[in-house]
Formats: sequence, structure tokens, C-alpha cells
Amino acid sequence: MSDAWQPEQYARFRAEREQPFHDLLALVEPVPGGRVVDLGCGTGVLTRVLHEHTGAAETVGVDRSEAMLAQSAQHAGRGVRFEQGDIEKFAESGLDVVFSNAALQWVDGHETLFPRLAATLGEDGQLAVQMPMNHDHPSHTVAHEVARERRHAEALGGYVRGYPLRDAEWYAELLARMGFAEQHVRLQVYLHQLTGPEEVVEWVKGSLLTDYRNRLSPEDYEAYLADFRERLLAELPDERPFLYPFKRLLLWGRKGAAGPGNG
Ligand SMILES: C[S@@+](CC[C@H](N)C(=O)[O-])C[C@H]1O[C@@H](n2cnc3c(N)ncnc32)[C@H](O)[C@@H]1O
Repeated sequence: MSDAWQPEQYARFRAEREQPFHDLLALVEPVPGGRVVDLGCGTGVLTRVLHEHTGAAETVGVDRSEAMLAQSAQHAGRGVRFEQGDIEKFAESGLDVVFSNAALQWVDGHETLFPRLAATLGEDGQLAVQMPMNHDHPSHTVAHEVARERRHAEALGGYVRGYPLRDAEWYAELLARMGFAEQHVRLQVYLHQLTGPEEVVEWVKGSLLTDYRNRLSPEDYEAYLADFRERLLAELPDERPFLYPFKRLLLWGRKGAAGPGNG
């Protein structure tokens, strides 16, 4: 499968996309001299910020996208390095922080993924994850509806993107069961003010739609995108500025002696 990530498209709403990163980072406690991993690090610009915040000796950014990683070299050095790799195969031990901003929504099977990530942490290790939860907004539901239409379904071989996230409560319980002594789990609404509804198309082109783009020829993707645009704009109110509420799940936990799953 090709790599459909386009760093420029993703960066179009940079300030809006960075705020949840900063909110997640604020939950992470510094680990001077420690080891930190940033899963799905993208271009690595925020991996550097993470590294400075934690004061770690080493921070490794992991991503499978060559296009995203191609930009990471400028953020490497002074304790930060980048590796191409798949989160699904990620294995380590004794880490102080496993951090992941806006990436784990791409990985299926959270009931096995999260315990696997927790197992890479050392004593007192911290897990910090932010994932979009906007699956019920038309920007997402219409994308999947269009994928199910006959012409696109044929081109996609019947593929429709699944949604691996569970309820916020499920993650809170899981963290406790995995032996995290402390935790902070919250669902937050980020209200974005866009110039008009057509900007929602640009927004999802830089994220969700990359998955369909990945699986289609350029012509088939253009046809899919045209139908998506038409259907979505028919559904959204034509208001300027356009309010785009975006739900996100922020979760943080720290392992430790008080956890019921420990011992
Ligand atoms: C929305 S971007 C977020 C990038 C960065 N964390 C940020 O906050 O700007 C999601 C990133 O996750 C990466 N990704 C998705 N699934 C992955 C997987 N299974 N293994 C490694 N990287 C993955 C993508 O390549 C992409 O760079």
C-alpha cells in the first residue's frame, strides 16, 4: 500500500491540531535522564517539544510513514532520534514515557494494543495518549457512507474504515486494571472556527481521507473526493465562520505500587 500522508495538508490546521498535543503534554511529568517514545510521531516537530518537556536522556520518534519521517531529520539530535516502524510491532521495555498524539486511532485492537504498550513501561512509567473521537460527526460519517456507494465500494474492494476506539470509561477502567496507580482520562471538545464548511473537507483530507486515498488510484480518489465534498456540503449548514466541534480523548496514567493490577 502506498503512503498517503501529506505533511503539507496535515499542517494546514497546525495551530488547531497542536492544541490537544499541548494539553496532553501538560499531563506528563518530567523524567530527567529517562527514556521516552513518541508513537506515530509524524514529522517529529512535536517530538522535540516532548523531549524538552520531559528532560529525558533519549526520545525516540516512531512512525511508519516515509513522507512524514522525511521531515524529521531537522528535529533529530541532542537526545532525539527517529525510526521507521509500525506501532503494531512496537516492543520495548523499561520506558519512562510512552506518548502518542493523534496516532493510535489508526491501530486496531485496543484491548491488546494498550496492554502491550503498558508492558513496555518500567516502574512508575507513564502512558499518555490523545485520540480524536469525532466518528459521529458528518465529516466522518459521510466519508464512510460515500465509501459504501457502489462505484467507490468497487474501487475500494469493499473496504470501509473501522473505528477502533472504545468509550472513555473503558480506557479509565483498563488503565486501573493494567496497574496504573494514577490516571487522568477526559473527553474534550475543541471548537474550531473555520472560514466556511468547505474547510472541513480540507481538514479531513489531511487525516481521515488519507486512508481512502491510500487505497485508490488517483482518478478513483478524485471521484471519491468529489462525491464526498458534494454530500458533506449538502449536509453541513452554510455558515461563516463555520463552527467545527471536534471531540478528543486525552488519557494519562502512571504505573505504581498503588495500582490494583500490580504485584
Ligand atoms: C495524525 S498524524 C500525528 C502526527 C504527530 N503525532 C502529531 O501530533 O503531529 C498520525 C501519524 O501516525 C502514523 N501512524 C499511523 N498508524 C501507524 C502505525 N501503525 N505505525 C506507525 N505509525 C503510524 C502516521 O504515519 C502519521 O504520521
